[in-house]
Amino acid sequence: MNQGFGEDHCSATLLDEGQPQNDRLLSQLRADPRIEFIDTWDEQHAELNRLRPPPDQEVVAEPKRWAYYPWRRTVASVLGPRAFRAVRLNRNRNLITAEEQARLGRLRVGVVGLSVGHAIAHILAQEGLCGQLRLADFDELELSNLNRVPATVFDLGSNKAQLAARRIAELDPYLPVEVFDQGITPESVDGFLDGLDILVEECDSLDTKVLIRQAARARHIPVLMATGDRGTLDVERFDLDPQRQVLHGLLGDVEFAELAGLPSEDKVPYALRMMDGAALSPRMAASLVEVGTTLATWPQVVAEVANSAALVAEAVRRIGLGEELASGRVRIDVARDLDEIHDTAASNPTHDSAQHSEFAPTHAVERVVAAAVRAPSGGNVQPWHISTRDNTVTIALAPEYSSTMDVGFRASAVAVGAAAFNARVAAAADSILGPVRMESGDDSCPVRAVLHLAGESDPDLAALYEPMLARETNRHHGKQVSPPDDVVERLHAVAHREGARLRLLTAPTDIAAAADILAESDRIRYLTHRLHTEMISEVRFPGDPSQDSGIDVVSLELIPADMVKLDVLRRPDVMAYLDEWNLGAALGSDTRERVMTSSCLAVVSMAGQALTDYVRAGSAVEAVWIVAQQHGLAVQPISPVFLYAHNDADLEELSPKRASALARLRSGFRELSAIEPDESVALVLRFADAPATSVRSQRRAVVASSLLA
Ligand SMILES: Cc1cc2nc3c(=O)[nH]c(=O)nc-3n(C[C@H](O)[C@H](O)[C@H](O)COP(=O)(O)O)c2cc1C
Repeated sequence: MNQGFGEDHCSATLLDEGQPQNDRLLSQLRADPRIEFIDTWDEQHAELNRLRPPPDQEVVAEPKRWAYYPWRRTVASVLGPRAFRAVRLNRNRNLITAEEQARLGRLRVGVVGLSVGHAIAHILAQEGLCGQLRLADFDELELSNLNRVPATVFDLGSNKAQLAARRIAELDPYLPVEVFDQGITPESVDGFLDGLDILVEECDSLDTKVLIRQAARARHIPVLMATGDRGTLDVERFDLDPQRQVLHGLLGDVEFAELAGLPSEDKVPYALRMMDGAALSPRMAASLVEVGTTLATWPQVVAEVANSAALVAEAVRRIGLGEELASGRVRIDVARDLDEIHDTAASNPTHDSAQHSEFAPTHAVERVVAAAVRAPSGGNVQPWHISTRDNTVTIALAPEYSSTMDVGFRASAVAVGAAAFNARVAAAADSILGPVRMESGDDSCPVRAVLHLAGESDPDLAALYEPMLARETNRHHGKQVSPPDDVVERLHAVAHREGARLRLLTAPTDIAAAADILAESDRIRYLTHRLHTEMISEVRFPGDPSQDSGIDVVSLELIPADMVKLDVLRRPDVMAYLDEWNLGAALGSDTRERVMTSSCLAVVSMAGQALTDYVRAGSAVEAVWIVAQQHGLAVQPISPVFLYAHNDADLEELSPKRASALARLRSGFRELSAIEPDESVALVLRFADAPATSVRSQRRAVVASSLLA
């Protein structure tokens, strides 16, 4: 092992400015005209200060260091060890989180054979997958190695292990690298393996392969080997299975001593068995036939070497983090995958803008039903069965459309109430209005609204017929506009007429506080698997079946850049990671922006908690919505996750992991909106000045028999 500190030394000497002994050495180095000083400390420190989240004060306060590289005759300034690591590996996050990086930083990895091993050792250091490296090779760099070893003509004649150690020191002067420049022998193998967590074996000698595996197995050290043909990776988990035969038993029970005694030509069958001749790439197999005649040894290209390094890096990461990695052999064949290239352009779906034909009612009762059907509902699930009989129109809550957010069917009840309001408006317009009753039911129909058709009219309701049919959810971000006082007054009046209360949040501080609450609630909705799955299943993408319910992705009014984000946001595996890390603040930013650009938030509430109360309040929601839109306001409901929860048990059901956070958000929202203890919130609407919607929402076809009954 090379332990000298002379010119062939292969680790950097670190010097602390301000320490007398180090300062003396630095002055000597500065006095030497052959030594160059490179100082980029200010730039490095500026980068440190730009890190998100900001690093600890003690990391920022680490003093300046100098790293002296004798083989380069250069001294470079570097941040202190913690700051250096934080900045250098910052761009790994969260492909590797900071916590994972810290765990990986404790791994000790040995690499034997520093041709292919050079690329592997360097990538392990570069990705921060180890905290200590041990490198063994007796060989020196030759010109013919420069097709695959990332070295230069200045390095010819250098020991390959030293050379790799130097490049790693130039990458990270703090990473300890031990060099075994005599390679692996029966005498050195124990010292090399002692204390290692993982061994990477990339040497040419069959004897050494067997020797080091037998020793690694005895110490329960897992062994990785990448062979630069068809991306082959061999994994031997001696840590999990210390009885495993070395090299998957491909060589039989051969012992190192036996192999070492054989002449070269007798080792060829063993080598072929190890490589599995049948599976080699045709060019590699044909080249092997030529070894000894037109080729001196087998060929290797650097692209395959780089692939090998990537495979080993992933395997080391998995072992280091305790993730799954079985023993065996795998081929990650880049060339084969390129044969199967997929024409993304040809399969890119274009949006089918064809609209479903709408039910066109001709008869007064049909118009009442058609109006009810146009009511809004959470996720456009249309949670109702509508039937007509004996001069009544019944809108019955259909529990089969319910979802987790629809706690106790309260969102569905709001939709039923909205449908009942629409039905009354249509009946008034046709002068067939009669009284409406809200009835509690049983499990198969928890609540229903029954409209009796009589000969009455109601000019105020009748005047809303066209605006009612035109009502829609407008999800454009929009601009703020203050609704005039008379409109505000009318909104309060229509809510009151339906037995509900309306509160308008208009103060910028209130809007900002509501935006924070609603954004955090949305983040929780994304991070809670069930809520996320249900939310995504509501959105209809081009080509999806059942376009007659759910929310057309076009109606989300996303700009192209946000449409692309949706491809990520809809993935449960992505949300699972953000949930695990408790991150994803940006998941609420869309809602935050929408709320912040709104003129005001309308909170519709009512006294009581029964489903019939929610039905009544649903009628008020619809009345407010129609009138607001009639006066030029774009309206979009914003449903926080906790909206229909009454108590802790309800919140637990919504998101067991984040129930207490939801409880805080819920009470914050109720306080902000001054909701009384006996009051329930039916819906929150945001008003804005926005362009027309891009697409009209669809409805399931009305069942004709119900109209004729
Ligand atoms: C109880 C309830 C909750 C709703 N929640 C939201 C919501 O959080 N976000 C949203 O964009 N739309 C929401 N909506 C609007 C529905 O998605 C919309 O009514 C439905 O897709 C039909 O479209 P339309 O309103 O344009 O007819 C909600 C509607 C109701 C009745």
